[in-house]
Amino acid sequence: MKFPIVAYGDPVLRRKATAIEPDEYPHIKELVDNMFETMYAAKGVGLAAPQVGLSMRLFVIDANPFQDDDPSLKSFKRVFINAAMLEETGEEWPFNEGCLSIPDIREDVYRNSNIRLSYYDENWKHHEEAFSGMAARVIQHEYDHIEGKLFTDKLSPLRKRLIEKKLNDISRGIVDVEYKMKFPAVKKGR
Ligand code: NI
Repeated sequence: MKFPIVAYGDPVLRRKATAIEPDEYPHIKELVDNMFETMYAAKGVGLAAPQVGLSMRLFVIDANPFQDDDPSLKSFKRVFINAAMLEETGEEWPFNEGCLSIPDIREDVYRNSNIRLSYYDENWKHHEEAFSGMAARVIQHEYDHIEGKLFTDKLSPLRKRLIEKKLNDISRGIVDVEYKMKFPAVKKGR
């Protein structure tokens, strides 16, 4: 089952998501499958639960489309539950990022090159793991989502001003997008 993806401007994207208790969500694998299905249909490399309207500390990543940049990402398909960022180090480098909740906008974003993350996988196995390069980049972007942050927050005041109208349009559903979305500023029944 595919979810509609929540667009920029929805308050759920600004909420710090809450941790998941294993017994609260016995069907987490079904949710994870649906998130992957939603993500693949929208041609994304990552999707966080708030983007489908669920304020939960969960995100999924399949960085396979980045295998040309980094061959190790060919089979980088992961589920991150209750992730906590332990460390972000290394030089900041720019990459032209996009987001399924902010279609049609891509901007250079600077992020640290190395991270250390604590998380649970879909089998509730705990991991503490280091990531670098593109893998770290994609995780940092998705991790921001469960913290209520978006890549546009990291832009310079000038860049923010330049995309302001486009962001407002996205909230109102004035954007060409190939996948199903839920726009916060569009009244129901219209
Ligand atoms: Ni995103």
